[in-house]
Amino acid sequence: MFHESRESRRKVAVVSGASGGIGRALCDLLRQRGYWVIGLARAQGRALDAAHVDHSVTCDLTDAASLAEAARAIRHASEHIDLFVFCAGAIAPQPVATLQADLALEQVQINLVGVMQLTHAILPAMAEGSHIIYTNSMAGVFPLAGSSVYTASKFGLRGFALALEQELRPRKIRVSSVFPGSVNTSMLMKEMEQGGSVLNFMSAPQEPEAIAEWILATSHKKRVENFPSSFDSFFCTLFLWSPRFLRLCMPLMTAWAKAGRARYRRNRLKNASD
Ligand SMILES: NC(=O)c1ccc[n+]([C@@H]2O[C@H](COP(=O)([O-])OP(=O)(O)OC[C@H]3O[C@@H](n4cnc5c(N)ncnc54)[C@H](OP(=O)(O)O)[C@@H]3O)[C@@H](O)[C@H]2O)c1
Repeated sequence: MFHESRESRRKVAVVSGASGGIGRALCDLLRQRGYWVIGLARAQGRALDAAHVDHSVTCDLTDAASLAEAARAIRHASEHIDLFVFCAGAIAPQPVATLQADLALEQVQINLVGVMQLTHAILPAMAEGSHIIYTNSMAGVFPLAGSSVYTASKFGLRGFALALEQELRPRKIRVSSVFPGSVNTSMLMKEMEQGGSVLNFMSAPQEPEAIAEWILATSHKKRVENFPSSFDSFFCTLFLWSPRFLRLCMPLMTAWAKAGRARYRRNRLKNASD
């Protein structure tokens, strides 16, 4: 049942989306920090390389049977979980006017409903002192035109995490969320190709390894919600409080982000030709 090094690694971490850009970097880092890592990945899609995890479990967040089986497999692999990082996610940028119902439903299932179902299923393995981290997005606090379904799913995830935090506080199980800006992964590439919001480029996209470090660092903090900077946290709060202020700032932010996107494209072309 256990990987041979299981005994030497006492802390158990589970990472969903372990085959993705951020998830994979997080698995690597957790293993370096001495965790025994269970990685969740879909049956189909990119293979979950055994080099990045100690144990892999198949889990499709759009399939209730797969979710239930994954929860059983996790508990079979380890009776307790110290850290669960929900990292799987999907985006399909589309204006609401041309929204395809199946793509909309899939995003809500992967980013929100499946996360709630899996959380419910693994709770019995979460003991006092354990920690659940949800990988949200700036889209969870800032409306992204053109990605309204993704925005809605991440706003929903924020509410779910905040309510769960209150539920689990008496059991001394920590719940927190991280809200990264843009990250250099296949998700960002897809957004760029499919006309996602230019506001992703308000600041330069970060590398997944840096984001993984940051996510893990937040696990040592007491904060329930973690933003890349106090600046992001302050302005997102202000924008939600005053949509009028957001509208006023939008032209300036869009111009700034367009310049950021052009810079990012130039750098990618330069790196590809080097
Ligand atoms: N990249 C960014 O700019 C950015 C910014 C803010 C927040 N985030 C958030 O960070 C998280 C990780 O994103 P990423 O950038 O690492 O994206 P990514 O490289 O595209 O990885 C996405 C992960 O989600 C998994 N996934 C997709 N559909 C699934 C399904 N039906 N069931 C189970 N797993 C599924 C993928 O598995 P497969 O390998 O099988 O496809 C993959 O492991 C997401 O929650 C995302 O919303 C990303």
